[in-house]
Amino acid sequence: MGNIINIKNINVSYGKNHVLKDVNIDIKEKDFFTFLGPSGCGKTTLLRLIAGFEQSQSGELIIDGKEVSKLNPWERDVGLVFQNYALWPHMTVAKNISFGLEEKKVPKNEIDQRVDEVLELVGMQDLKQRYPFQLSGGQQQRVALARTIVVRPKVLLLDEPLSNLDAKLRNQMRIELLELHNKLQITTIFVTHDQEEANSISDNIAIFNEGVIQQVGAPIDLYNHPKNLFVANFLGTINVIKGKISNGTFSDGNDFKLEKLKADNSDNCSLLVRPQNIYFEKKNDSDQNFKGKIQSKEFLGNIIRYQVLISGQVMTIDSMHEGKEKIYSKNEDVDVFVNPETSQVI
Ligand SMILES: Nc1ncnc2c1ncn2[C@@H]1O[C@H](COP(=O)(O)OP(=O)(O)OP(=O)(O)O)[C@@H](O)[C@H]1O
Ligand SMILES: [Mg+2]
Repeated sequence: MGNIINIKNINVSYGKNHVLKDVNIDIKEKDFFTFLGPSGCGKTTLLRLIAGFEQSQSGELIIDGKEVSKLNPWERDVGLVFQNYALWPHMTVAKNISFGLEEKKVPKNEIDQRVDEVLELVGMQDLKQRYPFQLSGGQQQRVALARTIVVRPKVLLLDEPLSNLDAKLRNQMRIELLELHNKLQITTIFVTHDQEEANSISDNIAIFNEGVIQQVGAPIDLYNHPKNLFVANFLGTINVIKGKISNGTFSDGNDFKLEKLKADNSDNCSLLVRPQNIYFEKKNDSDQNFKGKIQSKEFLGNIIRYQVLISGQVMTIDSMHEGKEKIYSKNEDVDVFVNPETSQVI
């Protein structure tokens, strides 16, 4: 499938504040694509730029093969759902949804039919005569979505659409969003600062930090093969051990040596190990075994998360809680095993 959006060397500044720095992203047609990054990193700015509410100082923005930088928002065939929904309070659900079509002078009977279609898609048929204040947060969210998809944009832009909802409803709306995406097959760009949300919903993610794209890829690839420490840390807990590597053997300069790594020699690198890739067991291969001392433990339901002192450094180790496993206590000495195959050097 081809690309529907090409973002090329985009730069945006507000005065001296350089907010987007040489941003390059290609988005495939029908993708569910997410902009992920901490607050203030430029996600909304890029989304608004795509929608046409923001200007870049340099670069190109191509939607469906056409350079659109000079086009007005309504000439771009994209639909933006704002974080705060911005429903019209004095209009019913049906009117909120039909308004955009009326502006476009779509014939009345077609409007009625399309409004009913999207109401059914978002499961709001019975509430069409209600006003926004008579709806729950999740229902308002559905109306905001319906209002945008009823005009059938080529690209759907969603700015933190779930952030006003409580945890349970968020999870439910995530699933509904994905189902809607599957049904409509519409290219969607989703903005969030929540890594778990991004992982659960996206085909591909672009990770932002301070206006610079750090890495683009599928969630699992980013998690397993981060290009830098920012990406590694942003996508979940990870142990970072500083040291050097020579001929496949990493050393922290202390007692920690790990052999059989695939990486080039370096005097200044980091070994990255996820907490689930360190095990409480002793293998025969001494170069993968280490002595540790339990510092603390945290019960998280399906896992027990330990902080363990190894070679002068506290490392996080996750152990599956199956009900029969040994539970360690504070100050207990343990043998741990680090698998070089699931460790990474950067
Ligand atoms: N109209 C504006 N004028 C001046 N500075 C702005 C303007 N809009 C955004 N900024 C600044 O640009 C930077 C990026 O803002 P942006 O809204 O894109 O961040 P974000 O990644 O969406 O953050 P959040 O997760 O908090 O929504 C911030 O430093 C912000 O203060
Ligand atoms: Mg934002």
